[in-house]
Amino acid sequence: MKYGYFDDSLREYVITRPDTPLPWINYLGCQAYFGIISNTAGGYSFYRDARLRRITRYRYNNAPYDFGGRYIYLRDDTSGEFWSPSWQPTRRKLENYSCRHGMGYTIIGSKYQGIEASTRYFVPLDENLEIWQTTVTNHRPQAAELSVFSLIEFCLWDAQDDSTNFQRNFSIGEVEVEDRVIYHKTEYRERRDHFAFFACSEKTAGFDTQRDAFLGAYRGWDNPAAVERGQSGNSVAHGWAPIGSHHVKLSLKPSESRQIVFVLGYQENPRDRKFDPLDSQILNKKTAKEVIAKYLVPAKADAAFEKLRRYWEELLGLCQVDTPDVHTNRMVNIWNAYQCMATFNMSRSASFYESGIGRGLGFRDSNQDLLGFVHMVPGRARERILDLAATQLPTGGAYHQYQPLTKRGNNDVGSGFNDDPHWLILGVSAYIKETGVWSILDERVPYDNAPGSETPLYEHLQRSFRYTLDRLGPHGLPLIGRADWNDCLNLNCFSDSPGQSFQTTTNKDGKVAESVFIAALFVHAGRELAQIASRRGLPGECSSYLAEVSKMDATIRKQGWDGEWFIRAYDDFGRKVGSKECAEGKIFIETQGYCTLAGVGIDDGMAARALESTRKLLATKHGIVLQQPAYSKYYLELGEISSYPPGYKENAGIFCHNNPWVIIGETRVGNGDAAHDYYTRINPSAREEISDVHRCEPYVYAQMIAGRDAPTHGEAKNSWLTGTAAWNYFAITQWILGIRTDFDGLRIAPVIPGSWSGFKATRKFRGTTYQIEVQRAGPGNQVSLEVNGSSVPGNLVPLPPAGAKTVAVKATLR
Ligand code: GLC
Ligand code: GLC
Repeated sequence: MKYGYFDDSLREYVITRPDTPLPWINYLGCQAYFGIISNTAGGYSFYRDARLRRITRYRYNNAPYDFGGRYIYLRDDTSGEFWSPSWQPTRRKLENYSCRHGMGYTIIGSKYQGIEASTRYFVPLDENLEIWQTTVTNHRPQAAELSVFSLIEFCLWDAQDDSTNFQRNFSIGEVEVEDRVIYHKTEYRERRDHFAFFACSEKTAGFDTQRDAFLGAYRGWDNPAAVERGQSGNSVAHGWAPIGSHHVKLSLKPSESRQIVFVLGYQENPRDRKFDPLDSQILNKKTAKEVIAKYLVPAKADAAFEKLRRYWEELLGLCQVDTPDVHTNRMVNIWNAYQCMATFNMSRSASFYESGIGRGLGFRDSNQDLLGFVHMVPGRARERILDLAATQLPTGGAYHQYQPLTKRGNNDVGSGFNDDPHWLILGVSAYIKETGVWSILDERVPYDNAPGSETPLYEHLQRSFRYTLDRLGPHGLPLIGRADWNDCLNLNCFSDSPGQSFQTTTNKDGKVAESVFIAALFVHAGRELAQIASRRGLPGECSSYLAEVSKMDATIRKQGWDGEWFIRAYDDFGRKVGSKECAEGKIFIETQGYCTLAGVGIDDGMAARALESTRKLLATKHGIVLQQPAYSKYYLELGEISSYPPGYKENAGIFCHNNPWVIIGETRVGNGDAAHDYYTRINPSAREEISDVHRCEPYVYAQMIAGRDAPTHGEAKNSWLTGTAAWNYFAITQWILGIRTDFDGLRIAPVIPGSWSGFKATRKFRGTTYQIEVQRAGPGNQVSLEVNGSSVPGNLVPLPPAGAKTVAVKATLR
C-alpha cells in the first residue's frame, strides 16, 4: 500500500494522505541554518548545532508522534470554523491534501470548505532564515472572511536544557514585538549575542507570544483559544513558554488568491552593539531588519527559491544515470544523492530518530559519509576531512565523535573504537580519487586540536595504519577495543548494571578480544595507503604496507575462516564469535561483506563461499540480516548486541549500512545479478508498494529494517541519517554501474545484471563531463573501451588534456 507517489520530473515525493504510518520528513537548509519538516508541517529549526542553537521547540516521542512545528491555522470568520491546511494540529478531514517533499523545500496544502491553502517552506541559500509562503485561494461562489494564524514555539536555545531545566526556564523567556516582527531574546541579557525573529508580510490584526495566552488553560494545539475566538491576545511572554503567532485577516472575493510570507530567522549581533540604545536592554534589531524586509517581498522569496532549485539541479547533475531500472535511476539521480547531502550536513544529529542533543559528528560515520557526497561538495569534504583529522589522537586513535560548533573531540564518549582510524584513510583516498588534489596530504593538521602538534595530513594516515599494528591480539588479529564498526559488539564491556553505557564501559583490559572485521578493514585501507605512498614517491613505504596487508590477509584466512564463512571476532575468553561452534550468532554479515569487498579470499574461493553462505543463511526478501541465529538472551561477554530483542538493530536486524558491502563483494566475484538483487531488496523506492509494512519514507534509506526474527519483519526504523545512504550510493554507482573514481582517472567496470542490455550515464569528474554508454554484447563483465571513438586498453579512461569539456566513453561488455 502506498501513501503517495514519486514525481521524478520535479524531483519530489508527493504524499497524498496526511496519516502516513510515521511522520515522513524532509530537510530544509544546506549550509548553517537547518530544519526538519514532516508531511504535516511538524519539526524544528536550528542554527548549526541542533542541541546548542535550537530555534524552535519539538517534542520527541509524543502522541501523536509528530508534535511542534511550523503551523498555520485558518479560520472562517463567518462560521467560526477553523482548521490547519497541513492537517496537524487540528486534524480535520481535508480535501486534496498533498505534501510535496522536494530538494531542500516542502510544500503542504489542502482544501477545506472551498478554501485552498498551501505553504511552501524553504531556506534560501546563504541566509540564516526560513521562508514560508502561504497562498490562500477562495474557491467559493461568495466572498470569504478569513483569519490566518501562524504558530511556532521557541526553544530556549539549548535543547537539552530546554526539555529538563524547568525551575529556571519557566522564568527566563523574553521577547520583543516591533513592526509585526516577533523577536525571541531569551538569555540575551547575559551571555548570548543571538536572537530569533519571526516576521509576517501582511498587516496583522494581532499577535501572541505567550503560549498560555494563545492556547488558553488546559487546551492543546488542536484547539487554541485565540483561533477559536478569532482574535489574538497581543500577549507578551515573560517567562513560561514564548511562542510566535501572527494574526492576519483576509477578505477574499470568489477566485481571489493572496500570498502571505512569513520569515523565521536567526541573527547574531556584534557583542559591543547588542543593545539599542547601547545602555538599554532593548535588542539591537538593525542587523536583522534588512534581511527581513527583503524576504517578505514575494518576488524576492520566489527568486531565492529559484536559486535553490538551480543549486540542486547542478549538484544532482554531476552524476545522472539512465538504466533499465526505474528504482535505480530515481535513487541515484535524485534521492540517494540528496540523502547523502543530508548525512553530510547532519551526520547523525537531527532527524525524527536522532534528537539533536545526543551525538556530535561521528569520526567513523563522517568519513564513510564522504563516499556519498565528495563528488558534490569536494571543497567542503576537504574541510570535513581536516576537521576530523584534527580530532585524531597522537596514538593514531580517534575521538569517536566531535561537536560541530567547537570542532573538538567529545570527551564523554572518548576514543578506543579500534576501527575508527582506518576510515580516515578511506575518506582521504576517496577525496583524492575524486578530485586528484594530492596537496591535501601536505596540509598541516594537529592532533587532539593541540596547537604545536601539527603534522602533514599524510602522517595522520601513517599513524592510523600503525595504530592497528600496535594493537594486535593473540591470533595476530586487531584488538577490538570498545567496539568496531558494530558499536554494539562490546567484547570488553562486561556490564551488569543498568544505566551503564555499553559504548563507554570497559571492564576488561582489552588485550584478548579481536576483530576480524577490523582486519578486513585494515587490508582495505592498507592497500589504499600503499597506493597513496607509491604515488607520493615512497616505494619502500608502499611495499612495507603491502607486506603488512598480505600478512593480515593470511591471518584472516587462517584464524578468521570457519570453513564456510568468515568468523566475526574472538571474545575476551579467546572464543570465536560468529562461528559454527557458537550456539547463537554463528554467522555475521560484516565479515562476509567486508572481507570480500577488501578482496580477501577472492583467488582461493573463500570469498565465493562466504557469499554463498550469506545468501543461504542471512538473506531475506527485505534485505540481509546482521547475524543468525539472533541472540535470544543477554550475554555479558558480547555486550549491547545481545541487549536488543531478536530481529532488531544489531541483533539480527537488517542493518542496511552493511548490505552494500555484500553487494560490492558480489561485484568483486563478478555476480551482477546477485549484487543488483540485494540492492533492490533494500532500495526504498522499490519498497514503496509495501509502505504499510516498511512504514518509513519510501524516498530515503533507513538504518534498519526489522529482521526475520522480529514480529514486525520488514518494518524500517531510523530513516535518513545513516551510513546506508553513502554506501548504497557508492555500491550502485561505483561497483554495479562501475563508474569508479581512481587515483589516475575514471574507471569503467560495470557488473550489471545479465538481463540489462546496458545503460547510459553522465558523470562530471575533475572538471570534465564524461558521457558514458555501456552496451552488453555478451554475458560477462569483460570491458572493451572506446574513448572519443578510439579504443583504449583496460578499463581506465585516460585523463583528458587539460580544459577538455567532454569525453565520450563507450564500454562494451562481453
Ligand atoms: C550506527 C552508528 C555507526 C555504527 C552502526 C553499527 O549507525 O552511527 O557508527 O557503525 O550504528 O553499530
Ligand atoms: C546504539 C545503537 C547503535 C549506535 C550506537 C551509537 O548502540 O544500537 O546502532 O551506533 O547506539 O550511539
